[in-house]
Amino acid sequence: MNRPLEGAGGGPPASVIAGIGAYVPPNPVTNHDLSLRLDTSDEWIRSRTGISSRHMVLPGQATSDLAVEAGRRALESAGPEHAEGVDAVVLATTTPDRACPATAPEVAWRLGLGTVAAFDVSAVCSGFLYGLATATGLITAGTADRVLLIAADAFTTLVDPRDRSTAVIFADGAGAVVLRAGRPDEPGAVGPVVLGSDGSLAGLLEVPGGGSRQRASGEPARPGDEFLRMAGRDTYRHAVERMADASRRAVKAAGCGLADIDRLAAHQANARILTTVAEHLGIPEDRRLSNIDRNGNTVAASIPLLLADSATDGSLTAGHRVLLTAFGAGLAWGAATVQWPDVKPG
Ligand code: COA
Repeated sequence: MNRPLEGAGGGPPASVIAGIGAYVPPNPVTNHDLSLRLDTSDEWIRSRTGISSRHMVLPGQATSDLAVEAGRRALESAGPEHAEGVDAVVLATTTPDRACPATAPEVAWRLGLGTVAAFDVSAVCSGFLYGLATATGLITAGTADRVLLIAADAFTTLVDPRDRSTAVIFADGAGAVVLRAGRPDEPGAVGPVVLGSDGSLAGLLEVPGGGSRQRASGEPARPGDEFLRMAGRDTYRHAVERMADASRRAVKAAGCGLADIDRLAAHQANARILTTVAEHLGIPEDRRLSNIDRNGNTVAASIPLLLADSATDGSLTAGHRVLLTAFGAGLAWGAATVQWPDVKPG
């Protein structure tokens, strides 16, 4: 490890975004495609969720396959100067390839990163923000100089294809950033990350089977328990409250105000949720980033996919102060700000 920088006043360094990449499986699945096998319609899905199409893993494609592709693109984006110094891989996912071990070591190995530290972080739709806090902690503590943070989920593998209330929402994908040690005042520096959870509401979004609770019962999983169950209306309400509150706290912790926010990059859960959160925060429409229409809810991957897509299409440019916020199962939520750096998605 080579530690070239200190933060302001000789304090710990900040973590700074040095590269970004994203990947979704090929062949979009349209609302019409879903309506051929489910009692739903393009009109219902669009009006309730804002989604037109999404990507789903191909037969045999697992989370690590998505993660490796997004990670490779982020390393390319960062360039050899930073890519060659990556000394840790953090993978945010709720759909590891296997129950044991973590998927990150295999991803690091397949990316040619040798024997670097590698582990998974499990925070469902808030995975990228929990991963960002974790990766930043590795950098500020001096454990790593450059971290490859990947957020990847093959979440459709947890969704009952016959359940129209979840099958139309969730999708698969991966996004990644390279973080390096730098100064808190330079573009790309990650502001304080605000996190929270409420385990009393774990039952609002859960996969009851397959974990130690079911295995220790000595009983086989009941049919259907291997799939996600979601209380849609309650989830909606908590998502709005938690993302709006976390956003306010993250902006305050960063020492700025909501009027200073140039772009809102909220977890792409549902277009109506995004609109309501932005209205609560007073962020006008032209400052809201969104790609939910073509990607659906890609769980942990949602925010880095959105950032990469937006940087590619020009809706997010260097110098923009971006507010990131996420909410999901756990319940778990988070928010942070970052002044967008001059990086070209890989
Ligand atoms: N197509 C057609 N009808 C559907 C449907 C679909 N894909 N999914 C549900 N419905 C039906 C329901 O069965 C129900 O029918 P009923 O009145 O005959 O019982 C009706 O639509 C209304 O269901 P309801 O759940 O009350 O609808 P809603 O307006 O709350 O919208 C969600 C449902 C899921 C779109 C909405 O609750 C939501 O977006 N919740 C948040 C989900 C989310 O973002 N989760 C991820 C968080 S990270």
